[in-house]
Amino acid sequence: MKILGIESSCDETAAAVYTGKGMESNVIASQAVHEQYGGVVPELASRAHHKTIWRTVQQSLDEAGVHINEIDAIAVTQGPGLMGSLLVGLCFAKGLSLSRDIPLVGVNHMDAHIYANFIDETPAYPFVALTVSGGHTQLVHVTAPFEHKLLGETRDDAAGEAFDKIGKILGLPYPAGPVIDERAKDGDPRFHDFPQAMLDNNFEFSFSGLKTSVKYFLEDQEDKEQFLEDHLDEICASVSYAITEVLVKKLRNAMEHTGVESVVLAGGVSANSMLRRKARELTKEMDCRLHIPKLAYCTDNAAMIAITGGMMAERDMYSDMELKPFASLSS
Ligand code: KG4
Ligand code: ZN
Repeated sequence: MKILGIESSCDETAAAVYTGKGMESNVIASQAVHEQYGGVVPELASRAHHKTIWRTVQQSLDEAGVHINEIDAIAVTQGPGLMGSLLVGLCFAKGLSLSRDIPLVGVNHMDAHIYANFIDETPAYPFVALTVSGGHTQLVHVTAPFEHKLLGETRDDAAGEAFDKIGKILGLPYPAGPVIDERAKDGDPRFHDFPQAMLDNNFEFSFSGLKTSVKYFLEDQEDKEQFLEDHLDEICASVSYAITEVLVKKLRNAMEHTGVESVVLAGGVSANSMLRRKARELTKEMDCRLHIPKLAYCTDNAAMIAITGGMMAERDMYSDMELKPFASLSS
C-alpha cells in the first residue's frame, strides 16, 4: 500500500509518502513567520499552510518517485490542533481524494505521535506511551493498535509549552525547547532546585508553577540581566532537570501500574536529550524495551500521519467526506 500523509495541525506544513518498503519521503515546510511574535499566530499559520500545501505535497510525491494516481490512501490530520490550520489540510486532502478517487483516512495527531515509533521499529503490545508535545502531556496505556487508555495528563501547561514559556522568560527564541536542551548540556542541573509538581499524584502533571517559580527566581536576583548572562546554561540545565524528573517519575509509576514490558516516547519533547537519557536509564533498570522515534519523527511531521494512516487503512478505518476537524481531544 502507498500512503500519502498530510499534516497541518499547527505551524508545519508537511507531507510524506509511505510504501511497504519504508518512508520514501518526509517533507516539512516550517513557518518562519511566527518567530517575530514569540509563538504561533493562528491566522498567519492558516495562510502559510494555504500557500505552501500544494508545493509540499508535490515535493513529497516527487522525492518518493510516486505519481498521485499510484497512491492507495490519503491520510490527513483531523485534530487536535488549530482549527484554521487543520481545515487547510483537511480541505486539500478531501479535494485530492474526491478528484482522484483515492480513499481518505482522518488521523488523530496524538495517535500519530505514538505510532511514529512504528516507522523504524515494531514495539510490542501492550506498552505505555509518554506523549510529550507543545500542546499535550499524557501517559497512555496502549493494549493493541488504536486501543488506548488514558492514564493521566497535564492539568495545565504541557511539557513543551513549559519549555517554550520559560524560554520566553529567559529571553530565548521560540520554540525554546531545543535551545534550552542545547544550553543545558553545558550547565549544572543541581544549580537551583526548581519545583517538581504533583509527585504525590500517580499519572497527572502540572507545569505552570514551574514557569512562575523561574520568573520569581530571576526577579529575586539583584541584576537579572547579568545573572542570566552568567548562569543561562545552569538555569537551562536546572529547568530541564525539573521537567524531565517529573516525566520519568510519572513514567515509572505508569510502568509499575500496568506491568508493561515496552515503553514508547512520543511528541516534540521526546527529542530532549536529558529525557531520552533518563528514559533509557529507567527502562534499563526495569528491564523494559524503550522505543524513541528518530529526531525527524519526534516533532511534527507527516511521516507519522502516513504510517498511522496506513495502519488504519489496513483495519478499514476509512473516513468519508463528512470528516470534520477537531481542535481539542475532548471535543
Ligand atoms: O510535537 P510537536 O512538534 O508539536 C506539537 O504537537 O505540539 O512539539 C513541539 C514542542 C515545542 O514545545 C518544542 O519546544 C518542544 O516540542 N521541543 C523540545 C525539544 N525539541 C522540541 N523540548 C525540549 N527539548 C527538545 N530538544
Ligand atoms: Zn505534535
